Amino acid sequence: MSAPEPYDAIDVIRAKRDGGAVPEPALRWMVDAYTRGYVSDAQMASFAMAIFQRGMERSEIQVLTDAMIASGERMDFAGLGKRTVDKHSTGGVGDKITLPLAPLVASFGVAVPQLSGRGLGHTGGTLDKLEAIPGWRAALSNQEMFEQMRGDVGAVICAAGSGLAPADKKLYALRDVTGTVEAIPLIASSIMSKKIAEGTDALVLDVKFGSGAFMQDIDRARELAQTMVALGTDSGVATTALLTDMNVPLGLAIGNANEVRESVEVLAGGGPADIRELTIALAREMLTLAGQPDADVEGALDDGRAMDTWKAMIRAQDGDPDAPLPTARETHVVTAEADGIVTGMEALPFGIAAWRLGAGRARAEDQVVHAAGIDLHVKPGDRVSAGQALFTLSAEDEARFPRALEALEGAWTLGDTAPEIGPLVRERITA
Ligand code: URA
Repeated sequence: MSAPEPYDAIDVIRAKRDGGAVPEPALRWMVDAYTRGYVSDAQMASFAMAIFQRGMERSEIQVLTDAMIASGERMDFAGLGKRTVDKHSTGGVGDKITLPLAPLVASFGVAVPQLSGRGLGHTGGTLDKLEAIPGWRAALSNQEMFEQMRGDVGAVICAAGSGLAPADKKLYALRDVTGTVEAIPLIASSIMSKKIAEGTDALVLDVKFGSGAFMQDIDRARELAQTMVALGTDSGVATTALLTDMNVPLGLAIGNANEVRESVEVLAGGGPADIRELTIALAREMLTLAGQPDADVEGALDDGRAMDTWKAMIRAQDGDPDAPLPTARETHVVTAEADGIVTGMEALPFGIAAWRLGAGRARAEDQVVHAAGIDLHVKPGDRVSAGQALFTLSAEDEARFPRALEALEGAWTLGDTAPEIGPLVRERITA
C-alpha cells in the first residue's frame, strides 16, 4: 500500500483562493504531487488561477521555484574551467537576439549554455529559427553540450532535455490552455526554475514590455524583472535584467529563415540598428557578469571573431552555415496608399500575421514553415511615398495571405509628423 499523502489539494487551493500564503511544506507537496500525477490537471489549473488572482509573496515564489527545480535534474558545469553566462528573453516579435549574442559572447572565451524552446503562438522560438539552417540539430545530450562549451566553440544553443524542471513543463502546458500564463509569480518561477537548474554561473534577463510582450505595461515588466533578479541572486546565480521596448517589431525580419539571415548580417558587422544595439547591450551585460566589463564587443562583431564562432557553433551541431536558407514560394507586397511618415507599427499584429503565414505553430505538434514570415522595408520615423513597398509577406501557399492581412489591419499608421521614438533599453535592474 502506498503511503498516505500529507495534504489535500483542495485545502491548498482554498488557502490561495482566499488570499492566504501557502505554507512551504504544502506548496512543495503540491508541486511534487502534480508532477507525480496525484494532483489532477483540474486541481492545478484551479490553483494556478488562484495564484493569478491573488498573487504570491516573495517567499512563496522562492519555494515554488525551488520545488520546480527539485522536480528534475540539475546540470553542473563546474568542470568546464570557464565562466558560464546565459541570457533569457521574455519573448517578442522579431526577437532573434540570441542568435548573434551567444557566439559573440563565446568569442571572449566565456561559455554560453543556451537551452532554448520552440515558439507557440505569436512569439517565435529560437530552435525554430535555427532549424531553418540545413542539417542543424537542436537535440544534444548533456555530454555533447558540455564538450561543445568546453572546446573552442564555447556556445551551445539547444533544446532543454526533458529532465530539466519537468514540473514546469507540465504546468506551463496547462497554463497555456487555462488563461493563466500572464501571472508574475508563475512566469518568474517558470523561467528561473529552468535557468537555475541549468547550472549557469550568471544570467542576463531581457524583460520586454509593450504590445508584443507578455507584459504590456512597463511597471508590471519591472516587477517581473525584479522578482526574477531576486530569485536568481538568492540561488547564487549572478543575475541582472534590462527592461526593453517591445512595442515595435525588432529589426526588419519576422519569421525563421529571414531572422537567421538578419542575425548573420549583424554577425558580419551590419544589420538593423536596433538589433545591433540590443545585441551589444546584452553582450556587455553578460561579459560584465563574466568579469570582462571592458571587452571590445563592437570590435568582435566588426572584425569577424563573432562570425567565426557562429560558424563553428552551427557546424558543431551538424548545420551548414554557408548553405542557402529556404525561400518562400509565394510573396505579397503591401504598399503605402499615400505619402507620409510611418508613425506607428504595432508588434503584436505583426507577430500574429507572421504566425498565420506559417512561421509559428497553433498546436505544439504543428510544424513551422521556415520560409514563411514578414520582411519590413520601413520602420517608424521613415518617410514613404504613395505606392512604395512597406513590407513583404512570404508563405508557401497564397491562401495564407488574407488572414495575415486581416491581422495587420490598423497595425501601422502613416501621418505628417515624425513620431517620438524612445530608447530601446529603458532600465537596468540589479539585485
Ligand atoms: N517562458 C517560460 O518559460 N515560462 C513562462 O511562464 C513564460 C515564458
